[in-house]
Amino acid sequence: MRGVYECVSLIAERITENKDFLTELDREIGDSDHGINMARGFSAVMEKLSPEDTDIGAALKKAGMTLLSKVGGASGPLYGTAYMEAGKITAGKTELTPSDMKAIFSAAIAGIQKRGHAVKGEKTMLDALIPASEAFTAEIDGGADMSKALDAACVAAREGVEYTKTIIATKGRASYLGERSIGHQDPGATSTLITLEAICDYYKGA
Ligand SMILES: Nc1ncnc2c1ncn2[C@@H]1O[C@H](COP(=O)(O)OP(=O)(O)OP(=O)(O)O)[C@@H](O)[C@H]1O
Ligand SMILES: [Mg+2]
Repeated sequence: MRGVYECVSLIAERITENKDFLTELDREIGDSDHGINMARGFSAVMEKLSPEDTDIGAALKKAGMTLLSKVGGASGPLYGTAYMEAGKITAGKTELTPSDMKAIFSAAIAGIQKRGHAVKGEKTMLDALIPASEAFTAEIDGGADMSKALDAACVAAREGVEYTKTIIATKGRASYLGERSIGHQDPGATSTLITLEAICDYYKGA
């Protein structure tokens, strides 16, 4: 059976494949550790999860707690909180409806904002996640199915990553660069895009 374990495994695999790319992006506007942080975090997550973890809420909470405790820097607590908040609202579920998925997006965004106090347009992971959530919700509310809505979320996240190249960072280490941060894509927005693309591919059975 495919479930949350297989989905998180695919996210971990894609993050690990992109470790050097994410670190290279962070070298340009940060401290060269985003790929290292994320790969370390997801390798710890995969040590904690097993195929028996079929309760989506419990698995996401476990993943979030592991990211929180194993990953330093900004991204560990931010992604950790996002996964934990998503876990809280999916407790006991082994399948997700489109409205569960809408709620996951909202909970993840709220968690990241509660911890990091960033809004859209500050060159962070939220510049991929917020447009993805808005696109997903608009598609579902307009009658689309999960697959079409996930595709729209990925397109919006990719546009969000492109948008981060055009703006000044005002949160995190990249903000020290001021205008010199323009022209570089945000590492955290990129890892969010990679995560969403993994979820899309998982859903389609790739
Ligand atoms: N307050 C925030 N809210 C949302 N995302 C943030 C915030 N601060 C940083 N980020 C995201 O974290 C990414 C950097 O993560 P990384 O793993 O490199 O941790 P870090 O080096 O401690 O971060 P930073 O240098 O940004 O403080 C950024 O690219 C950005 O997307
Ligand atoms: Mg960094």
